Amino acid sequence: MEQGIELAVIGGTGLYQLAGLEEAEAHQPATRYGMPSGPARVGVLHGHRVAFLARHGEGHSVPPHRINYRANLAALQALGARRVLALNTVGGITAAYGPRVLACPDQLIDYTWGRVSTICEEEGREVVHVDFGEPYDRALRAAVLEAARASGTALVDGGCYGATQGPRLETRAEIARMRRDGCDLVGMTGMPEAALAREMGLDYACLAIVANWAAGAGPDPDEVITLQDVLDNVAAASRGLPALLEAL
Ligand code: HPA
Repeated sequence: MEQGIELAVIGGTGLYQLAGLEEAEAHQPATRYGMPSGPARVGVLHGHRVAFLARHGEGHSVPPHRINYRANLAALQALGARRVLALNTVGGITAAYGPRVLACPDQLIDYTWGRVSTICEEEGREVVHVDFGEPYDRALRAAVLEAARASGTALVDGGCYGATQGPRLETRAEIARMRRDGCDLVGMTGMPEAALAREMGLDYACLAIVANWAAGAGPDPDEVITLQDVLDNVAAASRGLPALLEAL
């Protein structure tokens, strides 16, 4: 199917479907990289053809380090997507990125390891060294920021996303180091997804949803992060998303 999709949305933790997606059909194409995490739901959102894929699977069964990032992106590309908006649930490290904040980061640092992080993996495949100085697509970021403005959705412009291996959360010392490195946000799925999207020629931007203060980063340094807090904050912060996506 190559009908063209105006926007593909990849949902993260707590975001397993796209509110308002009508006439959605499920597609789960096998790709040269294997199977995606689950079906891509292709339908109509405010009159535009949009695809949605739950990164961890619709039942959240795939942990961050086991996600077939290449297959997910290749499946969306095979369905006709050229632009991908990644929704990533994250922890906040610096002051502007507290729980329930939405942010559109402009930089990232990769702390993950052992993940297949390139499409230049197979023998015989041409090796590419894509430019990644600006890891997110400038035009798509600008469109997301403009959509937030137009829809009256508060969105922090910029920030550095630190991608960690997970699935465990970080130690306070790890977060302190990430702060020194210049990270504002921490999540487990931002890489290799962003780099693969660049290699595959997809325009890609991240909309980060802050679910919690990262370890030791909030006002209560002894705070324990619970899944329930994460899900509650994602649900609350996501309320602005339908309006933002409509404007986008
Ligand atoms: N660390 C890493 N990933 C996350 C966090 C966190 O604190 N919260 C949500 N995703």
